[in-house]
Amino acid sequence: MSKPIRVLLASSEVSPLASTGGLAEVAGSLPQALTEVGLPTMVVMPAYPEALAKAKISGPKLLLAVSMGVELVEFEVLIGQLTSEVPVYLIRCDKFFDRPGLYGEGRTGYLDNPERFTFFSRAVIELLEHLPQKPQVILANDWQTGLIMPYLLEAGPQAPKGIFIIHNQGYLGLAPPSLVSEIGLPDRYYGVEGLEYYGQLSFLKAGIVFSQAVVTVSPSYAKEIQTPEGGNGLDGVLRLYAGKLHGIVNGVDYVQWNPMTDPYIAANYSADDLAGKKICKLALRRELNLSGPDRPLFGMVSRLTAQKGLTLVVESASELFKLGLDLVILGSGEPWFEEKLTAMAEDYPDNMRLVLGYNSQMSHRIIAGSDFVLVPSLYEPCGLIQLYGLRYGTIPVVRAIGGLNDTVRDYAGQNPAGLWDNGFKFSQFQPGALVRAVRRACELYAAPGEWAKMSNMNLKEDFSWTASAQSYAKLIQKVASA
Ligand code: ADP
Ligand code: GLC
Repeated sequence: MSKPIRVLLASSEVSPLASTGGLAEVAGSLPQALTEVGLPTMVVMPAYPEALAKAKISGPKLLLAVSMGVELVEFEVLIGQLTSEVPVYLIRCDKFFDRPGLYGEGRTGYLDNPERFTFFSRAVIELLEHLPQKPQVILANDWQTGLIMPYLLEAGPQAPKGIFIIHNQGYLGLAPPSLVSEIGLPDRYYGVEGLEYYGQLSFLKAGIVFSQAVVTVSPSYAKEIQTPEGGNGLDGVLRLYAGKLHGIVNGVDYVQWNPMTDPYIAANYSADDLAGKKICKLALRRELNLSGPDRPLFGMVSRLTAQKGLTLVVESASELFKLGLDLVILGSGEPWFEEKLTAMAEDYPDNMRLVLGYNSQMSHRIIAGSDFVLVPSLYEPCGLIQLYGLRYGTIPVVRAIGGLNDTVRDYAGQNPAGLWDNGFKFSQFQPGALVRAVRRACELYAAPGEWAKMSNMNLKEDFSWTASAQSYAKLIQKVASA
């Protein structure tokens, strides 16, 4: 029997050790899914204080160093377990990672983010030499790990092959050209066909250009980033490399997100018995102090950034509440959106609740207790919230874009034969379009038995990692043997 292909996944955030959103959830669950389909996978990430506190560190640590410009930067590698089968290597260099935030604090990102993640990428390459079992393929995620791709090419033919995963084309990972000595690649990597991006350097572009394959997290997003509207200045580069670009929808961690066993919700439930879901809604209404008659309850759990389409919600407030619904938003992010949503919640004290902050347990209670989950994104590479909604029988109302378009089938729309409609979609990024979709959702809620029928079918749909891990496995095998 041939030896299994070993994989190393590198990410700047990995759930549950350190997280700001969906990237961490995928980096935290894909390794186990790959291991289960026969590709043993290890993980490497920065040793932020919260990650050090949560990882079950064991075994001796490694003491290593990389050179960055004229400086020799020493670091430790600590070994912990992400799951019983997935080891995690934590790169500890306190001058870069012992900080309150992952990428910044409040409004401002850390000014040395390019140095921090140049260091991290170099440290991953250095670590390869010291791993007891060498990986044949590295999966690097988003701009923070983009430089790993050219470093692997420079390391020669014996080095692992690189697959670059784009979770968000919106973040280019820009650095000033003055950083070239810290980056330390030969001159030929920096030109327009390499890292150069309108006079700066882009680590995202490094990942795209110098990898063996590029994956993005849904087929629709793979097409959208090849257009001027979605490419963020790199659409031409992505068209040039279209032959190595793949779209694979994210899976959901079905252990973490399971309405039958979820410890954070008021009652457990399944497709066979939705009684628990009613209890979850009652408990959520009580928790939020929402009184009044039973109304369709819409939930949002979101980073508060322009990507998430919150301006549409703010602009359509009066029309939305005329429909007779309740709305709860859990989110954290940019102060501008916090202010706008706070004002909106004050205007509709009987029907709207805003919870500011990052609260995982509450996100479970909102997904389980709402009737609908609203995701009106401007762009959305994959989106996990609508998948959690489907898993919990909470019907998604989404903008038809990126992964939202690939995973939600519009009620009474043109659906593939044999599949039921699992939600509501609208296309134009306009308040009127959002309101029309929400109105159709409220009509379904008002028709006796109809909401429950769709909810029940959705609970049976499979968005676990099973299918997606197989797609990754096929690509990894192809890249490893090329
Ligand atoms: P993105 O990664 O672009 O933020 P996704 O839909 O892929 O979007 O993933 C978002 C993830 O972050 C989900 O798991 C969601 O539950 C979580 N999340 C976002 N904001 C919050 C919050 N304020 N509290 C708890 N979880 C949140
Ligand atoms: C990004 C995207 C989101 C995606 C997540 C995980 O944060 O914004 O759409 O689901 O990564 O891939």
